[in-house]
Amino acid sequence: MTAAAAASEATPAASGLFLTLEGGDGAGKTTQAALLEDWLMARGRRVVRTREPGGTEVGAIIRDIVLHHRGDVSPRAEALLYAADRAHHVATVVRPALDRGDVVVQDRYLDSSVAYQGAGRILGADEVRDLSLWATQGLLPDLTVLLDLDPAAARARRDADDKPFDRLEAERDDFHARVRAEFLRLAAAEPGRFLVLDATAPADDIAAAVRTRVSALLDARTS
Ligand code: TYD
Repeated sequence: MTAAAAASEATPAASGLFLTLEGGDGAGKTTQAALLEDWLMARGRRVVRTREPGGTEVGAIIRDIVLHHRGDVSPRAEALLYAADRAHHVATVVRPALDRGDVVVQDRYLDSSVAYQGAGRILGADEVRDLSLWATQGLLPDLTVLLDLDPAAARARRDADDKPFDRLEAERDDFHARVRAEFLRLAAAEPGRFLVLDATAPADDIAAAVRTRVSALLDARTS
């Protein structure tokens, strides 16, 4: 089946809302996901906060391979591993939550594959996107927040963290520059789905901008 056929066969996200956060490593996605979860719960919404890779038991094993395997992992194998993690995660966590009417707040989704494997590993954006659409039967987020950060600033943040780099973080600066450019290209191509924010802004300002956009989506759902 082609990805287009998979997408047309896809069921809409029921009454739930699917929100994803994207951006380079160290852009502050986790902080923003936590703030958004708190705000949504205060508004009485049930929230499922999750992430890729590694949002399921199977995914935790895949995460260990893609981030911490010491030897070589070929680029196509890497793309398939992320897609496998995504397929299982969507089938067992994300779609059931959306079908229940929950809000899913997710750290990374298919745009990460397009940026990291498609552009970073140079496998091609369209093929990598099609692979994820096939894996997820065409599920796209209602909103994707892109926290945009210059790779040099991101590296400085990671250095300050003092944690060992994972396989992707350890890639060279030109890799991370391609990843950033691809995220921005994706956002420009789908302005209705993306909200692009400067990751160097104060966390509270970023959170307020995210809330404004999510409020509008929630209002549109209930009106
Ligand atoms: P993680 O520790 O979750 O990092 P972060 O806090 O930066 O999100 O690591 C996930 C890594 O996997 C990150 O470097 C991006 C990469 N990745 C891909 O290359 N492709 C993908 O499809 C996804 C979801 C992540």
